[in-house]
Amino acid sequence: MNHLSTTACLPLSTFTFREQMAHAGSSGEFSRIMIQLALAGKLIARELRKAGFNQMLGSTGALNVQGEEVQKLDERANDIFLEVFEHQGLVSTLVSEEMEKPFHIKEADGKGKYAVFLDPLDGSSNTDVNAPLGSIFSIHRLPPEGFSGNDEVLRKKGTDQVAAGYFLYGPSVILVYTCGNGVFQFLLDQNVGDFFLTSAAIQIPQKGSIYSANEGNQGKWFPETRNFLHFLQEVEPQSGRPYSGRYSGCLVADVHRILIKGGLYFYPAEIKKPEGKLRLMYEAAPLAFVIEQAGGLGSSGLERIKDVVPKTLHQRVPLWIGSRDDIVLAETFQRSASQT
Ligand code: AHG
Ligand code: MN
Ligand code: MN
Repeated sequence: MNHLSTTACLPLSTFTFREQMAHAGSSGEFSRIMIQLALAGKLIARELRKAGFNQMLGSTGALNVQGEEVQKLDERANDIFLEVFEHQGLVSTLVSEEMEKPFHIKEADGKGKYAVFLDPLDGSSNTDVNAPLGSIFSIHRLPPEGFSGNDEVLRKKGTDQVAAGYFLYGPSVILVYTCGNGVFQFLLDQNVGDFFLTSAAIQIPQKGSIYSANEGNQGKWFPETRNFLHFLQEVEPQSGRPYSGRYSGCLVADVHRILIKGGLYFYPAEIKKPEGKLRLMYEAAPLAFVIEQAGGLGSSGLERIKDVVPKTLHQRVPLWIGSRDDIVLAETFQRSASQT
């Protein structure tokens, strides 16, 4: 990871403004969206810090569009994103894990140029145990005529993302994003209330020695996925095996570990759920954008995540993501089965 002394410790607003000035023709729109996203990240971090005092832990008792239990903090994080984008005109549509339909911001009056896809709170089963949580975002440009009500203009491939990133709420709060020009990491200074640049041009190691997967699901996996896991667990020091297992239950935290230390995260296809668990547009594609920008790969096992064409806004996809060599190897195991 490079630490650029010239950019280190710049506040997010100064950094995005400086980037904007460096790119001719840049309108500053991205900076304005980032500032709103950062505000949401700060508000969610505050909400998480005091949740134990405010009866904000536990479930609402409802199920979301995915049929999964909604935590109170899932709902609150979703509301925060809606609130921060309400009174601005750039983003006209929000698509979220917690909302069945796209949400249209009245103030944007159909003229906003961007749509933001959100996993407002990722890893929300961790809320009750003070374990890490995240938020994931992905920004797409809307066509000039805006969003007419037809989902088709929102069903864009990962290659069409303008920017993507995540907040990780752990011992400290960090923001990691890319707009196709490298990966940047910011740290929240709680006293000042602002994010400051701590790393630029982050590169993922080409090969790692960590795997991150829910091994409890092995019995549901296809044999080639089990074979791959057992391969990683074999003792062969010359090839860096066995790998270490690390799994937090929060995709953002697990993928961030892989970004920094190398290795791979996978949530594979299951025999009864060939589409896997994770959502393409607001989990897999934005993380694949970040990891690819850092020199790694994001794959469904058979194709690049960023090339998958979504059929629905809440589509799921198997996810294999991490160091280049590790993902190439994982794909050879996946492909070996598809050829038999
Ligand atoms: P979310 O909390 O947004 O529904 O996401 C949960 C995801 C992801 O964060 C994590 O890697 C995975 O689901 C955990 O699933 P399992 O409990 O099946 O391992
Ligand atoms: Mn999630
Ligand atoms: Mn979520």
